[in-house]
Amino acid sequence: GKGGYAFYMEKEIHEQPDAIKDTVAPHIVDGKTSFEAEGIPNSFFRENQNIVVIACGTAMHAGLIGQQLFHTLANIHTDVAVASEFTYTNPVIKPGTLVIAVSQSGETVDTIEAIKYAKKKGAKVLSIVNVKGSTISDISDYCIYTHAGPEIAVASTKAYTSQLTVFYLLAIHAARLNGLVSEEESSKFLNELQRVPEVIGQILEKKEFVKKMTSKFLLSENAFMIGRGLDYSLLLEGSLKLKEISYVHSEAYASGELKHGTIALITDGIPVVALVTQSALASKEYSNIREVQSRGASMILITRESLYKDMNIPEDDTFILPEMDDMFMPFPAAVVMQLIAYYTSYTKGFDVDKPRNLAKVVTVE
Ligand code: F6R
Repeated sequence: GKGGYAFYMEKEIHEQPDAIKDTVAPHIVDGKTSFEAEGIPNSFFRENQNIVVIACGTAMHAGLIGQQLFHTLANIHTDVAVASEFTYTNPVIKPGTLVIAVSQSGETVDTIEAIKYAKKKGAKVLSIVNVKGSTISDISDYCIYTHAGPEIAVASTKAYTSQLTVFYLLAIHAARLNGLVSEEESSKFLNELQRVPEVIGQILEKKEFVKKMTSKFLLSENAFMIGRGLDYSLLLEGSLKLKEISYVHSEAYASGELKHGTIALITDGIPVVALVTQSALASKEYSNIREVQSRGASMILITRESLYKDMNIPEDDTFILPEMDDMFMPFPAAVVMQLIAYYTSYTKGFDVDKPRNLAKVVTVE
């Protein structure tokens, strides 16, 4: 059952602290990252210096965050491919290319076909899957399970943050084994990762505030979301959530790219969500916010206390995230974006769990 929640999606949003805890637990052994149980040797990321993530939809968006983590922490070149396009682009697969396939269901045909193609070309395949014993886990060389439990709502929430969790663990692991972060730094990162469940709990306590903030979307058929770096990757997912369950046409834009054309669409009253969590990028983001404000955008700001000061956006339109290390801010931000989509759909009276035209598992190409 829905455990007292109006929809499975709301229940599953609330299950994220446990999903993340359960996904982390098997991979910290004696205070260190471990993938021994999956048979992944310690030399793995020395041998595989080229990663291609293949996945669809939300799982692909988790891969975009994973890409930045592999770059930042482990200095491993990483591409992200939309599974349905992968086979058409003649992807370059050399010895030492590792495919990471990401899937909640483990049954998405586009992803299965891409895996088969990559294997034929000689790639090793590591999958990140939620459903035990599914096709994708079967056909992969290695499989790391997310422990999100059954996800029933069509819109993915806890599977996404659990997939992110595995990417954090893998990137920290690779960085540690390749000597790019010290043991001390890596245990600091792991401590931060283990704080995520509690931090998500703090967001959930403020869900009524998100509901109020969300009213901006109800009158609009269009919305934009702007951010840089990890914030941009996260907004691609936030935007997909809003589209699929509330039917608001939403586009996530890299803030710096907006002025190269799309800013023509920013007109009076259009809702714009700005996500600003990365300290090093905040000052550039301020000027992008000014640009859209001066064209009359109706702003929702999601940021952190330390970056809020000069933003010039009213508190009622601002969600202040709890402070974490910059690299971990996608977790609390993800939950706010999920709540924005949820409440927009809920308030409009839609069937949140069963959006029109969508299936939970996509078994056609
Ligand atoms: C969106 C959503 C989809 C799936 C995609 C891949 O909320 O759930 O975009 O992420 O269809 O599905 P899996 O992860 O089962 O391969």
